[in-house]
Amino acid sequence: SGNASAVKSSRFDKLKEPDVKFFKSAVGEKGVIMDKDELAVANIDWMHKYQGHSQILLRPQTTRQVSEILRYCNSRNLAVVPQGGNTGLVGGGVPVHDEVIMNLGALNKIISFDEVSGILVCESGCILENLDNYIGNKGFTMPLDLGAKGSCQIGGNVSTNAGGLRLLRYGSLHGNVLGLEVVLADGTVVDMLGTLIKDNTGYDMKQLFIGGEGTLGVVTKVSILVPAKLGSVNTAFLACEDYESCQNVLKEAKMQLGEILSAFEFIDRAALDMALTHLSGTRDPLPQSWKNFYLLIETTGSDEAHDKEKLHRFLESTMEKGFVADGVVAQGSTQADSFWQIREGISEAIGKAGAVYKYDFSLPPKYFYKIVEDLRGRLGSAAVVLGYGHLGDGNVHLNVSAPEYDNELLEKIEPYVFEWVAKHKGSVSAEHGIGFMKPHALHYSKSTEAIMLMEKFKSLLDPKGILNPYKVLPNASKSTPNP
Ligand code: FAD
Ligand code: MLT
Ligand code: ZN
Repeated sequence: SGNASAVKSSRFDKLKEPDVKFFKSAVGEKGVIMDKDELAVANIDWMHKYQGHSQILLRPQTTRQVSEILRYCNSRNLAVVPQGGNTGLVGGGVPVHDEVIMNLGALNKIISFDEVSGILVCESGCILENLDNYIGNKGFTMPLDLGAKGSCQIGGNVSTNAGGLRLLRYGSLHGNVLGLEVVLADGTVVDMLGTLIKDNTGYDMKQLFIGGEGTLGVVTKVSILVPAKLGSVNTAFLACEDYESCQNVLKEAKMQLGEILSAFEFIDRAALDMALTHLSGTRDPLPQSWKNFYLLIETTGSDEAHDKEKLHRFLESTMEKGFVADGVVAQGSTQADSFWQIREGISEAIGKAGAVYKYDFSLPPKYFYKIVEDLRGRLGSAAVVLGYGHLGDGNVHLNVSAPEYDNELLEKIEPYVFEWVAKHKGSVSAEHGIGFMKPHALHYSKSTEAIMLMEKFKSLLDPKGILNPYKVLPNASKSTPNP
């Protein structure tokens, strides 16, 4: 199915009966899942592209249980894959072979929330949307939002350094996460669960685990700074004649909307059509004007009259200048939700259309769409090439949709797209991570020295390499144990 493969490392042992006995003593009968149907779900990723063959899934309920499991697995040479909501898009959260699956979903308690500082402390298995609802009742909102919010866990978000739809406004988790509790491969619990906005006491080691993709440690608790939920939200769906105009609209939005701009998303015609075809209940927000480029822009502020006036002035001027061809401002939250349903549903829609080769690049704005056009030209009628993403952050989602997975097609896409991105000084992963999909492509965005340093951190924190093997590091799929 997928495009990656790795030989099983001989350094890992196989699960045996006494192991199961130990796990049951550590997490109780209910925390040990060996049921075939439940395992089937956990062994395959959200896209149904990466499939492992684990015999066992563990659901620890406390940090101590996480620690006991890891200490045991480390001594027994059993490989472990940490799993959150299993919504990751690079095959990082599912086993490659028969790794023990450790799902963090039972660590789902909210520990504290300070309504003055806006600092939330919770366990890593809390579902993003549940956290947003919990603090929403108190007048706050999570600094990140993504289509997978109903299933992804904050620990998974932290471990992938998830970006999403609000990064433009609130910045990345590298800034918002104030502290972490992490369990290392040998069971050591590292308390870095600070609740301070400023803290320059030496190296900021939690940063290694933000985006660590479960290869350096298991995140068990998270402390995160959350912004106030402001009452005035406006959402507009705009159509543009060409990509050049989209860039101009972005520039104008930064200048004119300034501090109230909260999202700037891009959808091309192919992506819009995909959503309209495969998502029930969606309809074209601008049926009267068929264009190739669309923008979803949101403002969030605290003064309805001021914000509306600003948005209208912005729309007027961008239309006058010919940057915006047509547009509609949502009249109420139902219509706004219908715009977001299209944008957030694109990945689900593509999944319904068949096989998908998914790329997630950072590129300078002027090249953001060029790669979509170039690949479209290269593939011709062999596949549908779509472009969408977080234009405000320079993050394009380049997707290739085909009836089924096909190696000939893949060979036309890779390494072409990675070379293209490297040549234009982009990143081969803006937000989804490296996982099992891209270790071979890491070098397009990182120097040899930087990769060597990553490997040193890995062998320092996980000398036996039991945590999420075959992922992220290019050498991880080889069977040589770390010294
Ligand atoms: P999983 O998929 O379970 O795991 C992801 C990785 O984190 C794996 O490597 C796993 O081993 C590791 N991991 C999970 N939990 C822990 C833990 N507690 N400790 C250590 N390691 C752990 N991503 C974006 O950045 N922006 C988006 O806009 C976005 N939109 C999405 C929309 C949809 C519809 C879908 C399906 C996915 C989207 N994603 C997006 C992908 C994104 O990576 C995930 O949705 C999310 O961050 C992963 O969380 P999860 O709990 O599902 O983690
Ligand atoms: C998105 O922005 O929609 C997500 O990152 C998911 C995807 O890329 O398909
Ligand atoms: Zn995205």
